[in-house]
Amino acid sequence: MLATMSAEEIRSLQRKVLELKRRKDAYIIAHNYQLPEIQDVADYVGDSLGMAMEAKRTDHPLVVVCGVHFMAETAAILLPDRKVITPERYAGCSLADSITARQLAEWKREHPDAVVVAYVNTTAEVKALSDYTVTSSNAVDVINAIPEDREILFLPDMFLGMYVREITGRKNMYIWPGECHVHARVNPQDISRAARENPDAVMLVHPECGCSTNCLYLKAKGELDVDIKIFSTGGMVRYVKEHPDNDYVVATEVGILYRLQKEVGSGDRLKPLREDMVCEYMKMITIDKLVRSLEEERYEVKVPPEIAEKARVPIERMLAISSRKR
Ligand code: 13P
Ligand code: SF4
Repeated sequence: MLATMSAEEIRSLQRKVLELKRRKDAYIIAHNYQLPEIQDVADYVGDSLGMAMEAKRTDHPLVVVCGVHFMAETAAILLPDRKVITPERYAGCSLADSITARQLAEWKREHPDAVVVAYVNTTAEVKALSDYTVTSSNAVDVINAIPEDREILFLPDMFLGMYVREITGRKNMYIWPGECHVHARVNPQDISRAARENPDAVMLVHPECGCSTNCLYLKAKGELDVDIKIFSTGGMVRYVKEHPDNDYVVATEVGILYRLQKEVGSGDRLKPLREDMVCEYMKMITIDKLVRSLEEERYEVKVPPEIAEKARVPIERMLAISSRKR
């Protein structure tokens, strides 16, 4: 549908969204990877942590989450008395799918005294079995807040886990071998090539990328002569805002480029590390689906109360530890 839509059709649907939003007193929260036309009509655009914080802060009766399913589920868990909807109920996440509640329960039986730290990219059922949730922007803070003598089970992203273990120096942390299909394909050779081609650029690398720990290692050994910053998508936005005159190579889903472009006023200084870093789940949310979602108040995201009650605990702990504003 989107490929055949003209710019005027998109603008007309955007006007409809704004009108419906006003009429229904709805609030739209979108992720940094969303399509430009979605980002432009959202009330808030940010990373997973920012989206959770914003969901909690808002008092609108209808909250629309434009992001993948676990993001909408997190909002629904935090807002049990509000209506939370998503324009596309099949927008999944390969990382969230890499561990089930049953697998986690089994892992916990092998480490009965361990603290379970789950990346927010997980299902509500997995969160309900966890002690803390984290996002890429606060994982280090959360691990540092856990007493050193406690074992940690970290899931499901192995690259984020290895990165956090490297930064915190934590020895007793076990990592689940899960990955995101978009970020896992990035390798250190991609970074070396980009560094050769763009010697003055800053590399912004998401910790889910397959190269994140390797980058730190090579950099420490002096084998990678490039300025690398490892950030959540929200961290990337803040950094670019504060340093608008740099050139950047960005290693995460390409939707972030539009978000960054808005901060610096043009795309001239921004390049994706790989054009093929596209999350097809994020792109399932289109402007026509958003209109339909608002019109029909669908698809409502409901988490069974007994799961939501348990899943809320680790999310609230994460929000309490997070030092960041939003
Ligand atoms: P952020 O929390 O950094 O936005 O990451 C979410 C995500 O799904 C990355 O692929
Ligand atoms: Fe999930 Fe990867 Fe898509 Fe992020 S980019 S939503 S981790 S599949």
